[in-house]
Amino acid sequence: MNFKKIIVITMSIIMGVYGMNAQTSKDTKTLVLYFSRTDENYAVGNIKEGNTAIIAKMIAAKTGADMFEIVPAKAYPAKYKPCIDQAMSEKRANARPAYKGDIDTAQYDTVYIGYPIWWGDLPMVVYTFLDKHDLNGKTIVPFCTHEGSGVSGTDGAFRSKYPKAAVKTPLAIRGATAQNNRKGAEKLVDGWIK
Ligand SMILES: Cc1cc2nc3c(=O)[nH]c(=O)nc-3n(C[C@H](O)[C@H](O)[C@H](O)COP(=O)(O)O)c2cc1C
Repeated sequence: MNFKKIIVITMSIIMGVYGMNAQTSKDTKTLVLYFSRTDENYAVGNIKEGNTAIIAKMIAAKTGADMFEIVPAKAYPAKYKPCIDQAMSEKRANARPAYKGDIDTAQYDTVYIGYPIWWGDLPMVVYTFLDKHDLNGKTIVPFCTHEGSGVSGTDGAFRSKYPKAAVKTPLAIRGATAQNNRKGAEKLVDGWIK
């Protein structure tokens, strides 16, 4: 084997290894999963992007995570009053409303889960997702938006559903802060992620 051949082979091996590394580092092991609703919101008016969606996108941008949005198969009413009424009936019935599509969560080590507080609880469609996925053994990082209730103990839902998951301290942000004070919201997200 001449010297030129040795150089070419060595270079190919080095490039191959670098190529593989580049591919590996792109594969994220973190998922940001969220549910969020647009349209009429009593605190921030008619919104085109949900409050929780804003925070979910911030977290994904900062962590380089994949995202999955839980989109209900049947959209919630755009008007506020019918929406809260429907949410209350679903909660009373312990309903499991369907959502569109799905994601294989097996490949993720860390799952951020974001949701608005609905009647002091997770929206029922989030429970539908949880019922379909075993997140035991993973790190779960809850975050929510609300208008006064805070986390409302919703992190407890993940602890009881997945006793073998490590559930981190949740982040609770006012919906109005997420919607109207992005810089303020980002500060809260930064402080919490650290
Ligand atoms: C059906 C429904 C129930 C709600 N219940 C509560 C509640 O119990 N406590 C609270 O602080 N905010 C409550 N809110 C306000 C939302 O949590 C808040 O507006 C949130 O930021 C909405 O997030 P989203 O835009 O991502 O859907 C409720 C809103 C809706 C639509």
